[in-house]
Amino acid sequence: MKIKPLTENERWILSFYRTSEISGALFFGRLAKSLPPGPIQTDLTKHFADESQHSWFWTRCLQTLNSEPIKLETAYQDQYVAATGMPANIMEVLGITLIFEKRVIGQYALHRQAKELNPEIAKTLDLIMEDEKWHIEWVTKALKCMENEYGADHIDQTLKRFYAADKEVYKKTVTEHEERIQGILKYRKD
Ligand SMILES: [Fe+2]
Ligand SMILES: [Fe+2]
Repeated sequence: MKIKPLTENERWILSFYRTSEISGALFFGRLAKSLPPGPIQTDLTKHFADESQHSWFWTRCLQTLNSEPIKLETAYQDQYVAATGMPANIMEVLGITLIFEKRVIGQYALHRQAKELNPEIAKTLDLIMEDEKWHIEWVTKALKCMENEYGADHIDQTLKRFYAADKEVYKKTVTEHEERIQGILKYRKD
């Protein structure tokens, strides 16, 4: 089968995804290393293994399509701490994670709807989205278990704060890279 070459914009966005997956893997990996034994340590270890795998899937996808990843200096998450402040405890870390994971799956789902999507990209998005669903699931459960310690209302308020920060970061990212991603953005609802 003849492979349709990637456009420069497609190459850029897949490289952007790859870089963000690497940043996620490094973040969760460090966290998994620092936690004591228990269910959160277990799930975070699997979580970071998944994110590492995702960065490999994007690398493989780019190479299958006769391209190479672009070395990008910044990842989506880089602006998070500036927008939300340093997380103060494990509940806040998981709160940011939940909001971030929802953004990731939303972006991948949006990309999945793009017209004449390259089958290799579609396959990679489907593969990754399966794992991302589990990420949202376990973090939601872990936050539920923390309600006794932190209070359901307080957790709810924290999530709202992070949600607002994420919206800002996303808006900024979209504005910055608009011409590269406009093919995907037209499917956006918010
Ligand atoms: Fe991922
Ligand atoms: Fe994830």
